[in-house]
Amino acid sequence: MTKSVLDRDIERVLLTQEEIQRVTTRIAAQIDRDFRSSKRLLLLGILKGSVVFMGDLMKKVTVPVEIDFMKVSSYSDGTESSGRINILLDLNRADLTECDIIIVEDIIDSGRTLSYLVEYLRLGGAKSVHTCTLLDKPSRRVVAFTPDYVGYEIPDEFVVGYGLDYAEQYRTLPYIGILKPDVYKNK
Ligand code: PRP
Repeated sequence: MTKSVLDRDIERVLLTQEEIQRVTTRIAAQIDRDFRSSKRLLLLGILKGSVVFMGDLMKKVTVPVEIDFMKVSSYSDGTESSGRINILLDLNRADLTECDIIIVEDIIDSGRTLSYLVEYLRLGGAKSVHTCTLLDKPSRRVVAFTPDYVGYEIPDEFVVGYGLDYAEQYRTLPYIGILKPDVYKNK
């Protein structure tokens, strides 16, 4: 499991590859059950953090599904939520009213990104909008938001890996780790 230089910055592993695979299998089974009758199911990954989770989840879902992506920005710097959501890559589909959308996220923190996106897609006319996140930090909520599918609720630790970054690094780690504070303090 070593990635040499990146591993050295990890204080401890929060979720192993095996734990992540187990929870991804569980969520895929829930989606299969809940969307058996959907005519057009769309997994909508939010770039960039969700890509690794999205890749694993889509392989495990067995009902027919399309994939698409949006990119938004929510953080003003490396660590804190700014409160502003900017759409950097929009969903551009003529068939939105026929789509059952599941937004796929790596993590929910303040809740601002997903509450904004759910409202945005509903106002845009999507047939239904649900949300799925690998990680949830409920203690960090600024706006009330409850996702439909959650992998793990985690404490307020600085987590990286499996798509999650610090300053665009560590996304390639195959597990979720807690970053050593001296990596991001005094930067
Ligand atoms: C992260 C994460 C969510 C958002 C959650 O993305 O992927 O999109 O922050 O935070 P919130 O609940 O406070 O809105 P980030 O802006 O770090 O971009 P990235 O996915 O490209 O790393």
